[in-house]
Amino acid sequence: MMMMMKRHPLKLPHLRTRFANLHSLLLSPYGTTSCAKLPEEHNPVSNMLIDSFGRHHTYLRISLTERCNLRCQYCMPAEGVSLTPNSNILSHTELLRLAGLFVSSGVDKIRLTGGEPTVRKDIEDICLQLSNLKGLKTLAVTTNGITLARKLPKLKECGLSAVNISLDTLVPAKFEFLTRRKGHERVMDSINAAIDLGYNPVKVNCVVMRGFNDDEICDFVELTREKPINVRFIEFMPFDGNVWNVKKLVPYAEMLDRVATHYTGLKRLQDHPTDTAKNFRIDDYLGTVSFITSMTEHFCAGCNRLRLLADGNFKVCLFGPSEVSLRDPLRQGADDHELAEIIGSAVKRKKASHAGMFDIAKTANRPMIHIGG
Ligand code: GTP
Ligand code: 5AD
Ligand code: SF4
Repeated sequence: MMMMMKRHPLKLPHLRTRFANLHSLLLSPYGTTSCAKLPEEHNPVSNMLIDSFGRHHTYLRISLTERCNLRCQYCMPAEGVSLTPNSNILSHTELLRLAGLFVSSGVDKIRLTGGEPTVRKDIEDICLQLSNLKGLKTLAVTTNGITLARKLPKLKECGLSAVNISLDTLVPAKFEFLTRRKGHERVMDSINAAIDLGYNPVKVNCVVMRGFNDDEICDFVELTREKPINVRFIEFMPFDGNVWNVKKLVPYAEMLDRVATHYTGLKRLQDHPTDTAKNFRIDDYLGTVSFITSMTEHFCAGCNRLRLLADGNFKVCLFGPSEVSLRDPLRQGADDHELAEIIGSAVKRKKASHAGMFDIAKTANRPMIHIGG
């Protein structure tokens, strides 16, 4: 499924975004340093964000909504999930207040997740206000791409600096089976729209499931031949209600072997210590190929991620079931100092690593649609 390559100059809507885009041009996606220095504003990392293992949590994933316009089997049960009433979802103002506290405490990267973040009606305003927070270097989104092509030009103007799009199959009928909805072509359009708008790389997240899409690995790799796409093969992870089973997991070693056998020019790249991905490039290909190996080779030692869920619960580990509400104290009038105490205590309780795939599969967690990855 090859598409024509179009190149468009970067349009730089305002100063903050200009720095964000420049930054991504000067740093390789894998964190090798460039020689240029950027006039960046840094907020020192406060104790609130440092855990008992010395990890600095400078990356906050904010789930904007529990709603989604797809029904992916690996993310939610067929019967759907119970939704938090709207009055208990963080309002725009509450979300900005909490994000402001995190950024002033040293968070420099925010990723908007869901559910599907683009279904939240005020996403443009949220992006605009987040991107103006002093000290924020990256404002990213992880989206299913169903409505992104239409919304992306405005989101880019509002400061959105990085885009990850989920796509698990290149076959429209399989897409419909997995997501229980139509929309394959719209996702492909969104990937192309992101490339045309100058996002580089555009990350494509592919959850690999044995018997479903493991035969498509090399087809996905081909997407990277002529386009600035980073295809990321993700090991299938267990969450409540997603009928995970170890036989469906295709381990990193097996995926890598398949790619390496087919592509002799596959080269390992240097990863950033906080990367979720192990990164590779094929000689002469424009894009890159990565593997996210949460199950067979966890990357918890470099973890810098925290999560704020749509209902205002704060979660320090994707697989850790413990959550603490920030919404409740916020609504009871807590000041920043009191909120920082609650956040800092939760961060200090963070474990060194997750419990291992079999224990994770047995532990009650939320469904993925509530957590946002
Ligand atoms: P970048 O910021 O572009 O590196 O993306 P990301 O990998 O942090 O986020 P994305 O939303 O694209 O997630 C890709 C995959 O990584 C998903 O399957 C996530 O569930 C998984 N992932 C993201 N953060 C974590 C994490 O902290 N721990 C683990 N185990 N997996 C994670
Ligand atoms: N295992 C691995 N990755 C998952 N994602 C959603 N559910 C799972 C799962 N069970 C991915 C989505 C999205 C990201 C946020 O998490 O494909 O790209
Ligand atoms: Fe961080 Fe938990 Fe993910 Fe490990 S499993 S990388 S500790 S969020």
